[in-house]
Amino acid sequence: MSINSLKDFNQKIKRVIITKEQIQEAIQKAGKQISESYDGKPILLVSVLKGAFVFMADLCRAITVPCEIGFMCAKSYYNGTSSSGVVNITLDLEQDISNYHVIIVEDIIDTGRTLNDIVKLLKGRNPLSLRVITLLDKPDRRLVDFTPDMALFTIPDFFVIGYGLDCGEYFRNLPYIAEYNQD
Ligand code: IMP
Ligand code: MG
Repeated sequence: MSINSLKDFNQKIKRVIITKEQIQEAIQKAGKQISESYDGKPILLVSVLKGAFVFMADLCRAITVPCEIGFMCAKSYYNGTSSSGVVNITLDLEQDISNYHVIIVEDIIDTGRTLNDIVKLLKGRNPLSLRVITLLDKPDRRLVDFTPDMALFTIPDFFVIGYGLDCGEYFRNLPYIAEYNQD
């Protein structure tokens, strides 16, 4: 895919499927739910870069109890729209997580491979608890048995962009979720 002009960019945005207002409403609810589960022990939000950075930024501001943030980077997609099937951890947490309630913040769960590997890795470090919240879930595409604790939106099997999600590193800056135009 190459984007050489604003026309190319706009042509790739097929239609908006989740508006920025719908996203914000769902995040406020999720933040409230997470805040209400607070038991006085430290919460660590772990964002899986790069796709989840926008969701993480909004979700942490919807949480009204003390929480820390950490980042991990896992790559399973390259320049196209199909999974490589290879999950590679390229950035890891700095914290010892054994005294935290860890909440993994993900942009989208597709085949489930990325999250499956990250959950296994972090469980091995014995956090107080471990939950997964994802903005989007595409259950039709699952290749491993994986269910998030919270999914804000469940979508059919098509490739989406915006609100942190990319295609070839573009479109992360769109404030909504759109279907990508494959033509
Ligand atoms: P999984 O390991 O197949 O579940 O894929 C996880 C990663 O693939 C996500 O964190 C995204 O970065 C990327 N991904 C999966 N589906 C889409 C999509 O529809 N648009 C953009 N990125 C996607
Ligand atoms: Mg991702």
